Amino acid sequence: MSRDDPITYFTEQNSAEVVIERMVGSDNPRLVEVMRSVITHLHAVVTEVEPSYEEWMTAIRFLTDTGQMSDTKRQEFILLSDVLGVSMLVDAINTRRPSGATENTVLGPFHVEGAPERAQGDTISDDGKGEPLVVSGRVVDVDGRPIEGAVVDTWQTSHDGFYDSQQPDIQPEHNLRGIFRTGADGRFSYRSIKPIYYGIPDDGPVGQMLRALGRGNTRPAHLHYIVSAPGFETVTTHIFVHDDPYLEIDAVFGVKESLIREFVHRDDPAKAAEFGVENPFWTVETDFVLTPSGA
Ligand code: BEZ
Ligand code: FE
Repeated sequence: MSRDDPITYFTEQNSAEVVIERMVGSDNPRLVEVMRSVITHLHAVVTEVEPSYEEWMTAIRFLTDTGQMSDTKRQEFILLSDVLGVSMLVDAINTRRPSGATENTVLGPFHVEGAPERAQGDTISDDGKGEPLVVSGRVVDVDGRPIEGAVVDTWQTSHDGFYDSQQPDIQPEHNLRGIFRTGADGRFSYRSIKPIYYGIPDDGPVGQMLRALGRGNTRPAHLHYIVSAPGFETVTTHIFVHDDPYLEIDAVFGVKESLIREFVHRDDPAKAAEFGVENPFWTVETDFVLTPSGA
């Protein structure tokens, strides 16, 4: 805008344009691009919804509460992004992969750095509670060739649906977490417990919002993974239990058909003894297919 341009005052009709125009002095074109879109859509929402002062204040209070609920241990804004499907959309945009490659899904807030590295066949269940499960699989490239030295970082909830970090006084630290390294055949295997569906934290503003919208906070049973190997794109994903009743109504929209696995119930004392688990037990197999980095 130059000094000769006619002055444009703010009106109901031109609101977004007038605000966007003020960014002419910015030397950050990407920020301007992002904010142009944010302002355009935000003003469109307000124009469409025509909120009362009271409704506008409810929105301000909700965002304030969301910020105040957040600290280094609890990120209520990410939870908000998760339940609005935004986390999954950002994830989809940033992890477009060829068909056959393992799909990404939401990381969630419960991954921790520094989980113990465990040996092949070890258990990640340090409290021994839950139905025994044997997990096995391979990490391979898109042509099916095994990837040696791939790192499989896994974490999951306990038999009653809580991560160790949610129950520091009940579960041992790093219960149901472990890092495994594949051998020359790309294989990994470990013992664990069968996951169950569980509720994401609902004691804050996001929980209040879900209840007001008639939505649940349950996630279908899953095992989390971050799978990485030098020269390959890191995959952050889950596998889901095939017959879980919440697969179609995951509170954070994380389910993808390609990530559903059959968990098989086995009553086989000899096999149980071989695996070092109590009979009966469950097994699940899953391969992770990685794409070359930068592809
Ligand atoms: C999880 O699966 O751990 C999770 C994902 C998103 C929000 C809350 C929990
Ligand atoms: Fe989870």
